[in-house]
Amino acid sequence: MSVTLDCPDSAATRAVAARLAPALRSGDVVLLEGDLGTGKTTFTQALAAALGVERAVTSPTFTLMNIHPTKAGFDLVHVDAYRMERLSEVVELALPELLDDGAVVVVEWGERAAPALPGDRMVIRFEYGPGEGSRRLTIEAVGARWEALEASGFLGVRA
Ligand SMILES: Nc1ncnc2c1ncn2[C@@H]1O[C@H](COP(=O)(O)OP(=O)(O)OP(=O)(O)O)[C@@H](O)[C@H]1O
Ligand SMILES: [Mg+2]
Repeated sequence: MSVTLDCPDSAATRAVAARLAPALRSGDVVLLEGDLGTGKTTFTQALAAALGVERAVTSPTFTLMNIHPTKAGFDLVHVDAYRMERLSEVVELALPELLDDGAVVVVEWGERAAPALPGDRMVIRFEYGPGEGSRRLTIEAVGARWEALEASGFLGVRA
């Protein structure tokens, strides 16, 4: 099952993140895939803002991971796997342990880190859309947790 959303500007992309935020629960994994500049960080910043993260959220391109306390009762772990050269670098981040401890993990270039993560995940693919400033987001639910959420129509759109 997947849902496709056209986001004509960055505000629209941010609005999708703001709709996702209240549905997130401890232990959730969200993988963001797509070319440079398609909006993965923009999406994560809006997600963090909706969760009450007050400090600036920048992409952890060199540190690989930032951990932001939220007001939702869990930490938001923001990973950027762009510069990852070996999977072992992500394995060392101990993401499964952070998830067990109740974090929510969001990964830019998520396909690169996927083998180091549990199977249930929401995958959001970002593509350049028709026209300047437009992006197409395809959201895929993998595993029981996300399929149930998607079936509930939480994004307001059904495939
Ligand atoms: N519809 C849109 N959705 C998201 N961002 C948009 C949109 N239209 C324009 N933009 C702009 O595109 C840029 C997206 O940059 P962003 O850093 O979020 O991408 P990214 O996918 O994280 O890139 P990278 O792969 O380098 O990490 C921002 O400057 C944003 O303002
Ligand atoms: Mg980015």
